[in-house]
Amino acid sequence: MSIQVTWLGHAGFQLDIEGKKVLIDPFLTGNPLATVTAEEIEADYILLSHAHGDHIADTPAIVRRTGAWVIANFELGSWMQQKEGLERVHTLNPGGGVRLPFGRVELTIAHHSSSLPDGSYGGQPNGILILTSSGTNLYHAGDTTVFLDMQLIGKHGLDLAMLPIGDYFTMGIDGSIKAIELLQPKAVIPMHYNTFDRIAQDVTAWAQRVHNETAAKPVVLNPGDSYTL
Ligand code: NI
Ligand code: MN
Repeated sequence: MSIQVTWLGHAGFQLDIEGKKVLIDPFLTGNPLATVTAEEIEADYILLSHAHGDHIADTPAIVRRTGAWVIANFELGSWMQQKEGLERVHTLNPGGGVRLPFGRVELTIAHHSSSLPDGSYGGQPNGILILTSSGTNLYHAGDTTVFLDMQLIGKHGLDLAMLPIGDYFTMGIDGSIKAIELLQPKAVIPMHYNTFDRIAQDVTAWAQRVHNETAAKPVVLNPGDSYTL
């Protein structure tokens, strides 16, 4: 069963796994790179890495229209229940996961900060592991620096890693090369870059370095484009 991975710009992705539409960090309204709107995107599940506005963004609106489930950490998930009135929410914490129709979704650690747009504590920031029933394993790092425990995450055997390369708020290109060495993914998609001037990067130079210095396949997507694995 193939998995289609569509980049929504910034840290946002739409995965098509066994007929289920899985969104990660949907930031469409106000995202200059977005090619779809929050009013038209489909979702069965929305996975959130952390509480910052450029990651949770359109989540409540999409849930109200689609009835999608939200998977997030305890504080962020509880905020979605209490402040936004969302009912279908899984509130996990790192190392914990939930069984969904297409496989297991588990939160990992990430090194970053996490507060909600209203100033509420957003809990620990996370990365997201998707261990599909068909044996294809995906990892979305969220916003983070590189950390040595990425070696443990890599032991799942990753078919794809989605890594930030924008620098300033997260790891940059140098950090992403170290992360790839630790994670050992088969393929890697860069994210969290070029949305704003502050995180502008030369993605062609990044891809050349991944090609030259790691065993992973660099997959550079334009917003709206898909990679099938
Ligand atoms: Ni952030
Ligand atoms: Mn961010």
